[in-house]
Amino acid sequence: MARRLLIAGNWKMNQTKREAVAFAEAVATRLAAGRPDADLLICPPATLVDAMTGASSGSGLAIGGQDCHTAKNGAHTGDIAAPMLKDLGASHVIVGHSERRADHGETNAVVRDKAAAAHASGLVAIICIGETEAERDAGKTLAIVESQFAQSLPAGATPDNTVIAYEPVWAIGTGRTPPLPEVAEVHAAIRASAENALGAEAAARLRILYGGSMKPSNARELLALDDVDGGLIGGASLKVEDYWAIVTAGTAAV
Ligand code: 13P
Repeated sequence: MARRLLIAGNWKMNQTKREAVAFAEAVATRLAAGRPDADLLICPPATLVDAMTGASSGSGLAIGGQDCHTAKNGAHTGDIAAPMLKDLGASHVIVGHSERRADHGETNAVVRDKAAAAHASGLVAIICIGETEAERDAGKTLAIVESQFAQSLPAGATPDNTVIAYEPVWAIGTGRTPPLPEVAEVHAAIRASAENALGAEAAARLRILYGGSMKPSNARELLALDDVDGGLIGGASLKVEDYWAIVTAGTAAV
């Protein structure tokens, strides 16, 4: 089953409006010269979504949020609702990133409700799961990832409205990545869990991204793995040259 790669950048709490617009324009220029066989997405801070959807409009670069509230509006100071992201032209939203699970105490149940809110607004939810280093050392990687998947997936999830991102917490921002066979094993386990939850046909279409220290030098081998359908890239997505090098490495890998 051929799944189209999704090369997604998570900018976290970085970049100014000027940098964001310059990035979107530079990617749009590259896309005008030739479209790679992959979907391209950047998830900037919410402050930059409007400027980036404007600057990338029609180019083939999609823009997403990094989080949304479970509710569609209301008295939640400082939070952002999924319909607000949709209103600015966003197409995706990341939910359940390990930094939000750690910094904001988000449980699987909260992540599931955020994904459901994303779906209700017509956004694709990118649901993040992944084990900590202690869990990995204890041999619990598959058990943790499988239970996070099962508990974070809302009713109504389909391969069209949901993407899974496997991000080992210990690989984020550390320059370390799991050995390729381990990445392959975890992605295969997630797909097997998806078969249970969604059925074989949907599971075969579900995109499962890898995230955690993906960069131009390791993207090709990671993206060439059978069940790795793209990347969720932090640091290396901040510079156009690095992001684009990952796009081209990925499309050369498949
Ligand atoms: P790095 O690519 O900086 O390791 O971050 C990965 C990540 O957390 C993407 O969501």
